[in-house]
Amino acid sequence: MATTRPRCRAEAGAACLVRRGGEADLAAIAAIQSASPQAAQWPPADYLSYDLRVAVCGDRVAGFLADRQVAGGEREILNLAVAPEFRRRGVARALVRSFLDGFHGVVFLEVRSSNAGARELYKSLGFQELALRHGYYDFPPEPGVVMKFRSC
Ligand SMILES: CC(C)(COP(=O)(O)OP(=O)(O)OC[C@H]1O[C@@H](n2cnc3c(N)ncnc32)[C@H](O)[C@@H]1OP(=O)(O)O)[C@@H](O)C(=O)NCCC(=O)NCCS
Repeated sequence: MATTRPRCRAEAGAACLVRRGGEADLAAIAAIQSASPQAAQWPPADYLSYDLRVAVCGDRVAGFLADRQVAGGEREILNLAVAPEFRRRGVARALVRSFLDGFHGVVFLEVRSSNAGARELYKSLGFQELALRHGYYDFPPEPGVVMKFRSC
């Protein structure tokens, strides 16, 4: 995975980049996940079994994205979260763009229907809302919105 430098205003003058995530990032990922109840809550080490990327702003891991291949030319975003203090600074957009750049095919994801911010993020990047999956989420119970992106 090539590292990419996103637009990032996370800390004045601090450089941000997106790079592959690894074991050394798991503590930061766990903290971001704990602070993000809207995100799926996985045992952090499980992400190492998938494609994992992190956004690093200054010396901090500010966010992460995990995805997997589900079929030829088809991938799925498993989880995405940004630390609350780094939100609305382009970090998630940079993570998703880094994932989409150079990928040819179709990407699917599910997002809680109440998660307006994430739905806006994905729509702003070209994802379409396909369908509602009733009863998809628990704690609290809620439909999932299935979203799809197709590369040009
Ligand atoms: C959703 C989330 C990942 C967005 O991360 P972020 O780094 O703040 O997002 P960005 O700054 O890259 O936002 C890009 C665009 O997405 C949209 N967006 C992001 N957060 C939004 C919000 N809370 N409300 C409305 N639109 C939002 C906007 O269009 C935004 O562009 P703008 O800031 O120029 O208006 C973050 O809020 C988060 O971690 N939430 C908890 C976990 C979660 O919901 N994960 C999604 C699982 S599918």
